[in-house]
Amino acid sequence: MELDRGQIIDLLNERDPQVVSQLFDEAYRTKVENVGESVYLRGLIEISNICRKNCLYCGIRSDNSAVVRYQLSNDDVLGAAKFALDAGYGSIVIQGGERQDKAFVKDIKRLIKKIKRLSRKNPLGITLSLGEQPIEVYEDWFDAGAHRYLLRIETSNEELYNMIHPSGDLHSFNSRVQALLNLKYTGYQVGTGVMIGLPFQTTEHLADDLLFFRDFDIDMCGMGPYLEHSQTPMWALRNNILPPEERLTLSLKMVALLRLMMPDINIAATTAMQTLHPEGREMAIMAGANVIMPNMTIQDVRANYQIYENKLGIEDDAAISKSKLEEFLSKKSIPIGLNQWGDSLHFINR
Ligand code: 5AD
Ligand code: SF4
Repeated sequence: MELDRGQIIDLLNERDPQVVSQLFDEAYRTKVENVGESVYLRGLIEISNICRKNCLYCGIRSDNSAVVRYQLSNDDVLGAAKFALDAGYGSIVIQGGERQDKAFVKDIKRLIKKIKRLSRKNPLGITLSLGEQPIEVYEDWFDAGAHRYLLRIETSNEELYNMIHPSGDLHSFNSRVQALLNLKYTGYQVGTGVMIGLPFQTTEHLADDLLFFRDFDIDMCGMGPYLEHSQTPMWALRNNILPPEERLTLSLKMVALLRLMMPDINIAATTAMQTLHPEGREMAIMAGANVIMPNMTIQDVRANYQIYENKLGIEDDAAISKSKLEEFLSKKSIPIGLNQWGDSLHFINR
């Protein structure tokens, strides 16, 4: 559906519950028509919370000395990948803080190859989410077998970007955009996204985020509400943000509008939505999302991967997360796309 900036802003501001619920229903129908009824699962493996960056909103920022830093062993990662494979997830996401040292880059390459070997008969799709890297690194990992990459723009407004990141070269808006272009050029299916309900963020900014996704011609999107974290500088602004219900509704509207604007991309129902409401991810599915990323990371380390507080499922282990999710999907008669990569149709159709 063609939506102009004014229409998008009006819908983001819409307060009539009936109109909002019509928007969600329309987005759900659009999803079913274009990418089918199925929800695709990606086993999320949080390999490390070591990060060289210091984003002002993030709980695992490098300056947070209260965090116990960890790095999963290759065997732990392979164990988690095997769990996803046996559960029929079809794909995994390897997510971690940003590191650019040679040892790390090499280790990831080795890991990607091992995962491919582990799943030779029915290869797991591998998505990476490991931050900004030089194009040679993106190429290296792509050649090793990764084929999707997630890198959020966080906000498409440069001024707001600069307000939520420390100054200096390490956190540059232009480098972030360039990294997204490099990923596309390398041949990845590219996913990006933003945080919703940031201090100083307006509905105009959010409308521009949606237009940025459309103009960049993204393949996948993961966005969710901003969640305040007490061990971050942005905690000081906690009274300048929307109340949780409004942040959740705004996030759901963003999902629905994006589905209408880009009917054949993959859109994730993110864990951050679940943090604001016990059925937040499910609500996102009903508003047009088609991907869920259950956490596969072992219990011992999961508590340390708190980019925001009260993150869902910290008490669960991978097996429990899986059964809770299946229970919901079967209750709603939503099929799971088992043993498939669930690639972005937008990428395939291009
Ligand atoms: N609230 C919500 N999302 C956050 N992220 C980091 N910190 C927060 C927070 N406080 C998101 C960022 C990042 C992703 C891995 O987690 O969008 O890209
Ligand atoms: Fe590191 Fe990502 Fe957190 Fe920024 S948001 S500090 S890059 S993990």
